[in-house]
Amino acid sequence: MKGLAGKRVVITGGTSGIGEATARRFLDEGCDVVVLARTPGPGVVQCDVSDRSQVEAAFETIGSLDVLIDNAGVSVRNPAVDIDAAQWNRVIGTNLSGAFWVAQAAAARMLAAGGGSIVFTASTNALVGYRYYADYNASKAGLVALTRSLALEWAPTVRVNAVCPGYVLTPMQEAEYTPEMLAQVNERIPLGRHATPEELAGLFAYLASDEAAYFTGSVIVMDGGETAGSLVSGPGGPGA
Ligand SMILES: NC(=O)c1ccc[n+]([C@@H]2O[C@H](COP(=O)([O-])OP(=O)(O)OC[C@H]3O[C@@H](n4cnc5c(N)ncnc54)[C@H](O)[C@@H]3O)[C@@H](O)[C@H]2O)c1
Repeated sequence: MKGLAGKRVVITGGTSGIGEATARRFLDEGCDVVVLARTPGPGVVQCDVSDRSQVEAAFETIGSLDVLIDNAGVSVRNPAVDIDAAQWNRVIGTNLSGAFWVAQAAAARMLAAGGGSIVFTASTNALVGYRYYADYNASKAGLVALTRSLALEWAPTVRVNAVCPGYVLTPMQEAEYTPEMLAQVNERIPLGRHATPEELAGLFAYLASDEAAYFTGSVIVMDGGETAGSLVSGPGGPGA
């Protein structure tokens, strides 16, 4: 991708799933990659994104950056009536508040340095309703609203975009779905399968690159056609 080599890229949740594949992709593009994660490891700056003071400390260590992939997230499958305060606070605290603390710390440095690009990992759950993920869905819808608001505030210096993946085969998905559930989901996706983490990584690389210089405030869906239709689409069109 044009203009990526040599850039300093910070990725939250970069030790697993989509984040890990994205870290590998940016390394392949010749970037300097820093991963923010709760567990230590090579190239990792330790940080629980839901704790604002830990985020501040992590960015003191990191210093300047060109690209932020704001991707860490958690989900819990639970009927809405059973969500307690601990679950609600953990999901919103990580996916929405945590993503905001990280974006805020990154943007302060990008605005001071005169440029940067931020990409949030939202979800198709931000766009249509899904049962049993009320807190998660609200957190991801919040990220879509943040994307648009921050894009306005930080233009023209920092570009802010969001990616809405549909179903992606990662540890998060495998932890909550049995093989039978995964097969049922695949049947309902027009392209007949989950996305791979590497397919998402390619979109992140593009959005962070100079080739995407005119993208800001955009919410980009990558879901194999999952949300393209609705009940009225039916098997053969309206009324069919
Ligand atoms: N897998 C899917 O189908 C799917 C679909 C749409 C969106 N997403 C989103 O993609 C992102 C990545 O998910 P994934 O599927 O790769 O899952 P994953 O569980 O493999 O990765 C999530 C990462 O976030 C990290 N993380 C969680 N809480 C954290 C915290 N408080 N501080 C720091 N790091 C934390 C985890 O340690 C892990 O590395 C998430 O935001 C998820 O909501 C996933």
